[in-house]
Amino acid sequence: MKLIKALIPKFVKGWIFKAMKPWVYFGVYFRDARRYARYSSVFSNREKRENLRSLIAIDYHRIEKGLALANPRFAFGKAVVENLISLMDRYLTLYEADWTILDAIASLQSYFDRFSTAEILEKPRKRFDLLKSQLSPEQQERSQDAIGTFCLEGHRKTLDFNFSDFYCSRHSVREFSEDPVSIELIEESIVLAMRAPSVCNRQPWKVYCVSEAETIQQLCQIQGGSRGFATEINKLLVVGVDLSEFYLVGERNECWVDGGIFLQSLLISLHAKGLGACPLNWCVSTSVDEQARKIISIKGGHALIALVAVGGLKDTTKFARSERRPVEDVLTHV
Ligand SMILES: Cc1cc2nc3c(=O)[nH]c(=O)nc-3n(C[C@H](O)[C@H](O)[C@H](O)COP(=O)(O)O)c2cc1C
Repeated sequence: MKLIKALIPKFVKGWIFKAMKPWVYFGVYFRDARRYARYSSVFSNREKRENLRSLIAIDYHRIEKGLALANPRFAFGKAVVENLISLMDRYLTLYEADWTILDAIASLQSYFDRFSTAEILEKPRKRFDLLKSQLSPEQQERSQDAIGTFCLEGHRKTLDFNFSDFYCSRHSVREFSEDPVSIELIEESIVLAMRAPSVCNRQPWKVYCVSEAETIQQLCQIQGGSRGFATEINKLLVVGVDLSEFYLVGERNECWVDGGIFLQSLLISLHAKGLGACPLNWCVSTSVDEQARKIISIKGGHALIALVAVGGLKDTTKFARSERRPVEDVLTHV
């Protein structure tokens, strides 16, 4: 093959490459579309745990955000409440009660407490009480008020540090110490990163943490963006998004948005935990994507966003300045 490649003149290679481009282009789009059709909940998977979870999250979030308004309409959203109770019923028929149900219970409890005098809510309230009775006393006790408050003074106190200094001190780190990174620090960083916003609070993120040196090298080799520092990486985080959390055609790109926001949140959390990190792009061909999926058994329904190389920081670390453009290039006043 190598010999044949070497014998083909450069201009012919260029011509073949040009002719192939549209096919490659449509091929990758086709594969992305196929993955979305197969693993999202648009056409199927309606009864899948992840899908029911996201449908429950959408409805309970409608209620909690309605309650968080300055002046919620009295007994608003009865249809949403009824639909939510039906979904929760279905969930409890198929699966065990877990945080999905407890979060929704919290929203509904706050809702019924707030509108306790609404006669039109009598029927859904009875259904809610019945549903709650299926939970253990500990689970019932765990549910807390879905609405929190924060005051300006307290908020100002949290700003009493130089955020700009902290934020601007994060750099992509491409040299690491030999100190191993503990799993606890990775977990703490992920918990922090999960404060990232996501559509309807669906939190569709999935992170695969690779610790084995050989596997890290395999993944880095096919990714290609960590040449020169791959062997220093102590943990490699593969960031993905679960497509089954999405159920509309209009949500087909949401995984990249929610995934991207989470990625930044993760980078800043790792930085806050005193670790060095470098995001590594997943701008790869579908065959490389498939290779990675095989290496660490990534679920077909998880769209891959990026990798993150993580390691300990040395006493001093070099970094590429990567200067930012002037703000006028980004901001347009209209
Ligand atoms: C999605 C994404 C993919 C990236 N991929 C790579 C990569 O493959 N290799 C690399 O060395 N840096 C990579 N980077 C790091 C960027 O080069 C870096 O974020 C940018 O230059 C800004 O510098 P800073 O992160 O130090 O602020 C990537 C960054 C992002 C956000």
